[in-house]
Amino acid sequence: MKRLNVALVGAGFMGKAHTVAYSNMPKFFWPAPAYPVLKTLCDIDPKIAEDSCERFGYEKWCTDWHDVVNDPEIDIVSICTPNNAHAPIAIAALNAGKHVLCEKPIASTRKDAEAMAAAAAEAAKKGVISMNAYQYRRVPALVLAKKFIDEGSIGKILNVRCTYLQSWSADPSSPLSWRFQKEIAGAGTLGDIASHVIDIAQMLAGDIDSVVSTVKTYITERPVQEGGVDLLGTVKLGPDAKKAPVDVDDENSFLVKFKSGAVGSIEATRNAWGRNNFITVELHGTEGSICFNYERLNELQVCFAKDPDDRRGFKTIYTGPAHFYGEVTWNIPGMNIGYGELKTIEIYDFIKAITEGKQPTTNFQVGYQVEKVCDAVMKSSESGKWEPCV
Ligand SMILES: NC(=O)c1ccc[n+]([C@@H]2O[C@H](COP(=O)([O-])OP(=O)(O)OC[C@H]3O[C@@H](n4cnc5c(N)ncnc54)[C@H](O)[C@@H]3O)[C@@H](O)[C@H]2O)c1
Repeated sequence: MKRLNVALVGAGFMGKAHTVAYSNMPKFFWPAPAYPVLKTLCDIDPKIAEDSCERFGYEKWCTDWHDVVNDPEIDIVSICTPNNAHAPIAIAALNAGKHVLCEKPIASTRKDAEAMAAAAAEAAKKGVISMNAYQYRRVPALVLAKKFIDEGSIGKILNVRCTYLQSWSADPSSPLSWRFQKEIAGAGTLGDIASHVIDIAQMLAGDIDSVVSTVKTYITERPVQEGGVDLLGTVKLGPDAKKAPVDVDDENSFLVKFKSGAVGSIEATRNAWGRNNFITVELHGTEGSICFNYERLNELQVCFAKDPDDRRGFKTIYTGPAHFYGEVTWNIPGMNIGYGELKTIEIYDFIKAITEGKQPTTNFQVGYQVEKVCDAVMKSSESGKWEPCV
């Protein structure tokens, strides 16, 4: 079986998720399209790099990403760094002929996103694959939703309502990690989590044409975290900790018009007490409705207008072996998949794209399209007007 040497750059939360997924992919998908070999782990922090190399099972470690980009042995670069490092690493890796899986959002600025999409388009001519890690569109229940839509089961889509609500930054004593610094993250909640539901909305209803938005920052300063990984609110710093300003958004809400003529709304916040990873998607069509909530990710609710008046209502379809990649995960409906299996499916699609030489559904052009929507959201929050996503 063909073997592909993987270099991981950034060994925090997502570094762990990618590593688990590369390791597990051939365990679920067999024969695998190719066998990923955990070759090199790179993290700018030598302590994290050395520790994670041993823990995750890579052959060697380094602290400078140029070393993996210049290493002829490396086939794949998985980018799991904070957002502002995505562009330089991805562009250099693509130019060196490496296949790139880059975490989302694609970049910290629109300019970087555009440059990444251009580099990916150029590299694609030589069969090099780019992918952004928008794994939620691979939730089997959402793939089923897409199937219902494509089959015409809910008719013409009229409205798409999406939310992504979390609570981990609602406490003002949660540290000012890189996620709250514009220079590193580019945006706050918008790039971090709204981007996921923008991707889902566009996957289901086509590209967004224009937006009108409100963007808010509720907690304007936070205690400073000195280096290290973002602990996502699990650690609180005391009242004596040095504080610094937050220059990104806590919450954004926007109305959207799709190119198809459908309309809708998207809301995202990391300050909603009681909400954890509350991704909801509700679509209303001329012939029915579809409803999904990630906190019940193995379920899809559907309602069909054609059902008799006294039977019409939402029914719940429990996803399992009969659904997207269900036959290779767990064989019994109700055993459920979670975040780990989802990232494994993503890695399978990535490796399959490499072996087949076909760009995946979440390639850099798609990541750039999400970035155009984010850019229009920020513009609209300042202009107070509808802004085109161009
Ligand atoms: N797809 C998802 O569901 C999802 C979830 C969380 C995060 N993310 C994305 O993944 C990326 C990483 O987020 P995270 O939560 O894993 O962050 P993290 O803070 O947990 O880890 C980032 C790691 O990158 C290292 N690093 C920083 N700059 C580097 C550089 N120039 N070279 C090498 N290593 C460097 C840090 O030392 C740290 O170990 C971000 O783009 C984020 O938006 C995606």
